[in-house]
Amino acid sequence: MRTEKALEYLRSNLDTEEIDVAIILGSGLSFIEEDMEGLKQVETSDIPGYPRSTVTGHKGKISTGVFNGRNILIMAGRVHYYEGYTCGEVVFPVDLLYAAGVKNLILTNAAGGINRSFGTGTMVLLDCYIAPFSEKYKGGLKNPYSEKLNGIFLRAGANRSLSVVSGCYAYMTGPSFETKAEIEYLRLAGGDTVGMSTVPETVRAKELGMEVSCISRVSNPAAGMTDGVLSHIEVLEASKSSQEDFVMLLKEFISLL
Ligand code: HPA
Repeated sequence: MRTEKALEYLRSNLDTEEIDVAIILGSGLSFIEEDMEGLKQVETSDIPGYPRSTVTGHKGKISTGVFNGRNILIMAGRVHYYEGYTCGEVVFPVDLLYAAGVKNLILTNAAGGINRSFGTGTMVLLDCYIAPFSEKYKGGLKNPYSEKLNGIFLRAGANRSLSVVSGCYAYMTGPSFETKAEIEYLRLAGGDTVGMSTVPETVRAKELGMEVSCISRVSNPAAGMTDGVLSHIEVLEASKSSQEDFVMLLKEFISLL
């Protein structure tokens, strides 16, 4: 099995027994690993067979530890299709988590806001995705996102008076940002946020029978909605700012698990 050596490495360097939830972080999004007890970390570049991330802002680390009595695994260092990886490589981290026994998977991404009422910083809990320009994913899975985990996210938001809205993610393969016309098309098709990740992972996790949920955090208005030109650096800067609400939501979610 292609995950065997990687799994052996994780088991010898991290605490991978009985993980309650695994969280895969998107561009520039961070979760305070330092708050976890018994923190153990590995660099993804040291894991046999793990695809190398080439994107600024994806630091390539896997951490385990205990937060609020729960065993957590945090993965920072996703790889994208637009970096030249095959879909199989993009979902390698999900295969590895599955092999490690993870049943609950939280994905996060930084995304462009298509819905005019979703400003920068809005936390969108996905309840569907569309992928009209992707040969592989355009069919769309019915209800890929876990009702159970989404319910916990909504309760976590309410407990902390954080605004968590439901929405639909439009998947684009990138690497360039969209055109104004594509964004208008995606809006008409029902997309609320747009980005270049998490759909392959969602589909793979669902195929494997995992519970999967995704928070899409708006880092910029989508292309053509403002006068500015989008750049990856700006997206990173914006998604780094005011992340307290995002961290608080994740922590409250964990405490309700
Ligand atoms: N488009 C595509 N991907 C993105 C965007 C965007 O506007 N923002 C962050 N990731």
